[in-house]
Amino acid sequence: MEFSTGHKDHQAEIVAFFASVFSASEGPGEGALIGEFVADLLATTPAEDVLVCTARDENALVGCLCWSRIRFAEDTRMVFILSPVAVHSERQKEGIGQRLIGFGLDQMRLQKVDVVLTYGDPAYYGKSGFLPITSEVAQPPLPLSYPHGWLGQSLKEEALAPLQGQSRCVAALNNPNLW
Ligand SMILES: CC(C)(COP(=O)(O)OP(=O)(O)OC[C@H]1O[C@@H](n2cnc3c(N)ncnc32)[C@H](O)[C@@H]1OP(=O)(O)O)[C@@H](O)C(=O)NCCC(=O)NCCS
Repeated sequence: MEFSTGHKDHQAEIVAFFASVFSASEGPGEGALIGEFVADLLATTPAEDVLVCTARDENALVGCLCWSRIRFAEDTRMVFILSPVAVHSERQKEGIGQRLIGFGLDQMRLQKVDVVLTYGDPAYYGKSGFLPITSEVAQPPLPLSYPHGWLGQSLKEEALAPLQGQSRCVAALNNPNLW
């Protein structure tokens, strides 16, 4: 298994991968929504505000995740949000997702990111150090339809102190259907 960063020359493959994995697990509507989100994310986000991590097995894409920058108006800490994550439908529950998230967190640390957030299943992401947080700790950029899925972790020694001010995600994520 090979883990790497970057999406240059692989956008179409990555978009199709997310659409196919989410279509299989959540239905075609969700597959289309996530496919469009990732296409938009890769096309419209400034390079320094997005990081794609991939897992390949004999060159075939088996896992992919995206980080994007989220800014808090009155806070100087660098914060990224993890969304989405997908593992090939025929390769799930082999530990690929957890290894890929671990690789992704290492990349965030290398980039000196202070805090990471995500929005998803607390039982799953809890295995990678994410803990449930409230809107007092980090104001979500859009209202959450599933507040229990709002998660975060500090990548520094100190515990996660509340992030100050309103948050602003990248344009592609600024879509109420994703929250
Ligand atoms: C969710 C997903 C990324 C997990 O990847 P994966 O490679 O199948 O997961 P892993 O094999 O790394 O799982 C590792 C552990 O988490 C457990 N696990 C997997 N999915 C879980 C879930 N939804 N809730 C709780 N635990 C879960 C596994 O049983 C395993 O536990 P163990 O280490 O104690 O044996 C993958 O199943 C997927 O792509 N699903 C469809 C798309 C999706 O829902 N993405 C997440 C939302 S953005």
